[in-house]
Amino acid sequence: TTKIIMDTDPGVDDAAALTMAINDPNLDLKLVTTVAGNVTVDKTTINALKVINFFNAVIPVAAGAEQPLIKEFEDAARIHGESGLPGYDFPEDYGKPINKTAVEALHDEIMATDGQVTLVPTGSYTNIALLFTEYPEVKDKIDRIVAMGGALGMGNMTSAAEFNVFTDPDAARIMYASGVPIVMVGLDITMKALLTKESIAELPEINKAGQMLHDVIINDGDHNDRGTAMHDVNTIFYLLHPEAITTKKMWIDIVTDGPAIGETVGDIRGAYHDGKTNADVAVDIDADAFNKWFLEEVKAIKM
Ligand code: BDR
Ligand code: CA
Repeated sequence: TTKIIMDTDPGVDDAAALTMAINDPNLDLKLVTTVAGNVTVDKTTINALKVINFFNAVIPVAAGAEQPLIKEFEDAARIHGESGLPGYDFPEDYGKPINKTAVEALHDEIMATDGQVTLVPTGSYTNIALLFTEYPEVKDKIDRIVAMGGALGMGNMTSAAEFNVFTDPDAARIMYASGVPIVMVGLDITMKALLTKESIAELPEINKAGQMLHDVIINDGDHNDRGTAMHDVNTIFYLLHPEAITTKKMWIDIVTDGPAIGETVGDIRGAYHDGKTNADVAVDIDADAFNKWFLEEVKAIKM
């Protein structure tokens, strides 16, 4: 099993990614940290707790950054609703976050882990930037970062920028400069592997987990005629099925001001960094395999 830590801002697709990470036996989810993003951090923390409690899982949750490092905070409630996770009545006894900040919890968990851990950020990278600045020693204990965010030449906030990087570009710059291997799971694949309307319609018939996912996914604003983008779930799919995703090594630079703020600029020809790379960028995905896997994961949940 792969030991992972998720840093997240649930968020409908974050909740679906958590669902897979909690339940797949090949992943050992050690800690969940939260960040402001889709909604404020008090809400993303509650939503993370609700999903974990729904599966009766025992996984610590630590609340993180309320604000990006420098840029002013703007949420995505227009996509994820005011609560961040609308459409399903989760039980109210969802518990509490632990008594540590996300940065302290990340540091303690990473340093205490036997071997190495994989970090899976599915919100903006504020907590990770703060962690690397305060405790650079953790970097050696991180096998790699599989991060949702960015894109090569497209965006969903501006034509240049994807939401997680746009929200805190200064944090993204610190993460990409850290030297820790990064897999960039961006819009290039997440907009291709939509969860189709047919797949979504099958969910409630599967089990209670499928019902919950169905009810939140149909309230997600990020959909078109074909289906709904499950951005963050692509990180988990990559961890379990790397063969279904094509990646390309390159250098990624982050734009931190001006009209292209939040853009992930890829040195696609390897021309500007002496052939050096700091990321493995997901450029293509088998969308059918993603849909089949998504349904199989839900079927494997016993509830
Ligand atoms: C990212 O932005 C958020 O709204 C989603 O949860 C995902 O992490 C997609 O751009
Ligand atoms: Ca997210």
